Amino acid sequence: MTILGIETSCDETASSLIEEKNGRCSVLTSVVASQIKIHAKTGGIVPEVAARNHILAIIPVIQRALKGKMPDAIAVTAGPGLVTSLGVGVQTARTFSYIWKKPLIAVNHIEGHLYANFICASTKSQITNHKSIAFPAVVLIVSGGHTELILMTGHGKYQLLGKTLDDAAGEAFDKGAKILGLGYPGGPAISKAAEKGDTVRYDFPRPLLSSRNYDFSFSGLKTSLLYRVRDMKKEGTRFTPKVIADLAASYQAAIVDVLVAKTVRAAKEYSVKTVLSGGGVMANKELRKRLENSLKKNGIDFRVPPYSLCTDNASMIACAGAFKAHRREYVLWRDVDARSTWGVTSNE
Ligand code: KG4
Ligand code: ZN
Repeated sequence: MTILGIETSCDETASSLIEEKNGRCSVLTSVVASQIKIHAKTGGIVPEVAARNHILAIIPVIQRALKGKMPDAIAVTAGPGLVTSLGVGVQTARTFSYIWKKPLIAVNHIEGHLYANFICASTKSQITNHKSIAFPAVVLIVSGGHTELILMTGHGKYQLLGKTLDDAAGEAFDKGAKILGLGYPGGPAISKAAEKGDTVRYDFPRPLLSSRNYDFSFSGLKTSLLYRVRDMKKEGTRFTPKVIADLAASYQAAIVDVLVAKTVRAAKEYSVKTVLSGGGVMANKELRKRLENSLKKNGIDFRVPPYSLCTDNASMIACAGAFKAHRREYVLWRDVDARSTWGVTSNE
């Protein structure tokens, strides 16, 4: 079957057409219209502005993804996210489902990030051969809005192990970049600045690193960067490219250390053979490398989607939709609504 994916949970208007055959999802088209330039001016997302731009972009983006084809089903992100942004995708999907008389699937955005690991393609070796993914698996989802460790025991079967108590890892990157004057979005900016930096020149806290649970907390880390920069300014420090690079590298190392330590510990405690990962922060090279190395040492199969499938896209939503379609988890167009909060592991 072919599935049209629609994703508007944040600041990317995305649509994709995928083909699913015997549980294998291949991407036919994928279109992402980014609002990064618009939000860079305000240093962050203004929900009203994001929603208006989704409205302008959504039909042309879907048109480009469909290329005149009629899909067999429609999968749309229904939450969690900015409710005014989500609403644009959800309303559009409802309308198409009603007019085309095609089944509709409501997808959780976090589950979408997870299913980026199940997209197959023959061209790039790094892309998952998902048939070989062994359950149970520990899943690390790190995005701008979420940081979650999940135990996945099968398709659609999840148990939340831990999540952030305050800021998400992506927020720590975004806010840290703002403090360092590196612009928006912060993840790519910090990771680039950190490339030539010294990871141990500045000492930053590793929040909850040795706590017995799998929760995260990044807001104190951000505050410690803020105070460090404030003190350095008072002392008259010149913020040369070298100083910025060292601050970025030391700060990034603190985030990566915590994410790697907790993921590896969860994988060992639950004796899983596989770790899956996803979300925009997984586009971070250092995090990919460190997780890969640590998990390999422990004989655990580590999967990470290619860069373009880590950040928000609609192929992952369509793929999650395909697996839900197999379980006949369809919804009537009139019953779908956007939800700002929606835990992947519960029905609240
Ligand atoms: O998954 P995503 O595209 O959107 C949400 O669902 O939130 O994630 C966006 C987040 C942003 O916070 C962005 O700064 C971060 O992912 N990000 C990165 C990198 N690329 C994007 N963080 C660290 N390193 C990167 N290379
Ligand atoms: Zn996302």
